[in-house]
Amino acid sequence: MGKLSGRIAIITGAGSGLGQATALTFANEGATIVVAELREEAAASTVAKIEEGGGKAKAIIGDISNVDYVKKLIDETITEFGQIDILVNNAGVPMSFTPIEEVTEEQWDLQLNVNAKAAFLTSKYAIPHMKKKGKGSIVNISSIASKRVRPGLTAYCAAKGAIVLLTQALAIEVANQGIRVNAINPGPAETPMLEKFFASMDPVEGRKLFENSVPIGRLCEPEDIANMSLYLCSDEASFITGAVYDVDGGRGL
Ligand SMILES: NC(=O)c1ccc[n+]([C@@H]2O[C@H](COP(=O)([O-])OP(=O)(O)OC[C@H]3O[C@@H](n4cnc5c(N)ncnc54)[C@H](O)[C@@H]3O)[C@@H](O)[C@H]2O)c1
Repeated sequence: MGKLSGRIAIITGAGSGLGQATALTFANEGATIVVAELREEAAASTVAKIEEGGGKAKAIIGDISNVDYVKKLIDETITEFGQIDILVNNAGVPMSFTPIEEVTEEQWDLQLNVNAKAAFLTSKYAIPHMKKKGKGSIVNISSIASKRVRPGLTAYCAAKGAIVLLTQALAIEVANQGIRVNAINPGPAETPMLEKFFASMDPVEGRKLFENSVPIGRLCEPEDIANMSLYLCSDEASFITGAVYDVDGGRGL
């Protein structure tokens, strides 16, 4: 028996990086995975990896910041699997260092829509199903940038801060209904997103800057985040809600 046997988990942005690692880890522990992803090929690769390992997964393609897609995601999951036990709001978009005068309204809206509003939408439509069951776990992937802010990342930090407060406000609202809501602040992680943060810099220097910012002396591996999400979604964490965990090698200190 795996730690998540028989559970249905929606993981957003599961086609790459932290989301894919989380999907594979959860599938290994017996969960059926719904891969909610913008990019069809990326989603297909995650589904294939899960199936190769003997697990079960389904991809539902679309933009997680679009309400019609979110409704379809929840409806199709319920029609096919009958329940939603776990929701991991992981999909996100990076921001390269940009001074405030150069941040466009489009950039701001994209950051807030994908990195914050999407978690509101998925929670809004998934929670009624969790309430019916009297049980559920939501994990929101924020960033250590929500707490240790950096210049040139205004919109990203604002969006990541919003998802932390959404986590806590929602946690207290649904705590007495068996639903737990927690957040993780990853540090700089070894995923395709990382280099987009230093797109405006020399790539070697940019990478060094991020590596040197982590006291433990290495970048975050996708499995570091997957393991924390697994813990938070397992029964071992049944008394934990509204918590925000830094999984960052000490970066936030
Ligand atoms: N990589 C890092 O250094 C780092 C650090 C802290 C926090 N994070 C956060 O971790 C999460 C995962 O990041 P990652 O590093 O794995 O990035 P990634 O780019 O490897 O993966 C993100 C995935 O989200 C998908 N996605 C993007 N916009 C979407 C949308 N509108 N709808 C559906 N899917 C969408 C992408 O297609 C991609 O597959 C993000 O929320 C990110 O902000 C990353």
